[in-house]
Amino acid sequence: MDINLYLRGLTMGMTSYRNGDAAAPARERKPNPLETWFDGHVEGPGIIKWRHYLEAYHRHFAKFVGTEVHILEIGVYAGGSLQMWKDYFGPGCRVYGVDIREECKVHEQESIRILTGDQGDPGFWQAVREQVPELDIVVDDGSHIPLHQITSLHALLPHLRPGGVYMVEDCNGVLNGFHDYAAGLSRNIHAWGQLKPGVHHEFDGQIPEAFQRAVGSVHVYPYLTVFEKHDDPSREFSAPRMGNSWMPL
Ligand SMILES: C[S@@+](CC[C@H](N)C(=O)[O-])C[C@H]1O[C@@H](n2cnc3c(N)ncnc32)[C@H](O)[C@@H]1O
Repeated sequence: MDINLYLRGLTMGMTSYRNGDAAAPARERKPNPLETWFDGHVEGPGIIKWRHYLEAYHRHFAKFVGTEVHILEIGVYAGGSLQMWKDYFGPGCRVYGVDIREECKVHEQESIRILTGDQGDPGFWQAVREQVPELDIVVDDGSHIPLHQITSLHALLPHLRPGGVYMVEDCNGVLNGFHDYAAGLSRNIHAWGQLKPGVHHEFDGQIPEAFQRAVGSVHVYPYLTVFEKHDDPSREFSAPRMGNSWMPL
């Protein structure tokens, strides 16, 4: 690997586009169901979320609405977000709230289970994996300490079903340690795979590496990183030529 090329790309990326685009009028859109719920939640258990997360939630979570969905949120606090998940996903939703503070147990109710522990402790996650079925969604809104976020991701990403979504919230700052970890991890999504046996060209069939089999895409929003698992861990990469009219090259 050419380290100078890597460093040049990193530096160029971090310093370009600082002035953004010229001011343009916003494209109008209707509020999504989570934005409507949030704006209407003026009484009841408290919830604190960056408003723009509600857009990302709906983009990645809409496919689970009305299904039997298992969602674990790290960071319960006043319990309002647990209620939001139930109302958004519907009666098939099972919520697991994790918090270091024992008092959060008061938010336990039918279809909401509270687990008490430290997200930075791998032993705690081992116990959680033994008690909780495979998950569809993890939202990490706990301590916001990069090492804790990494420990939790290592423990729970393998416990997420195909098609599952893992969100890490409040990674603030350009030099945030979780961004560096996520940037390194997500590079694996571009690994140039090995040829399938019997295949002679990369376009005709590549075997994805382990990370590519599990994770289909990585998304970055302000302060928020999303890992979305692919629906089919057995997929292969190929680039078939379709159509029958080709330029002579
Ligand atoms: C930002 S609040 C959660 C807000 C809530 N998710 C919401 O949307 O309203 C963060 C919570 O994480 C909990 N927390 C802090 N450190 C933790 C740790 N190491 N493990 C688990 N929970 C932790 C705190 O007790 C607090 O209740």
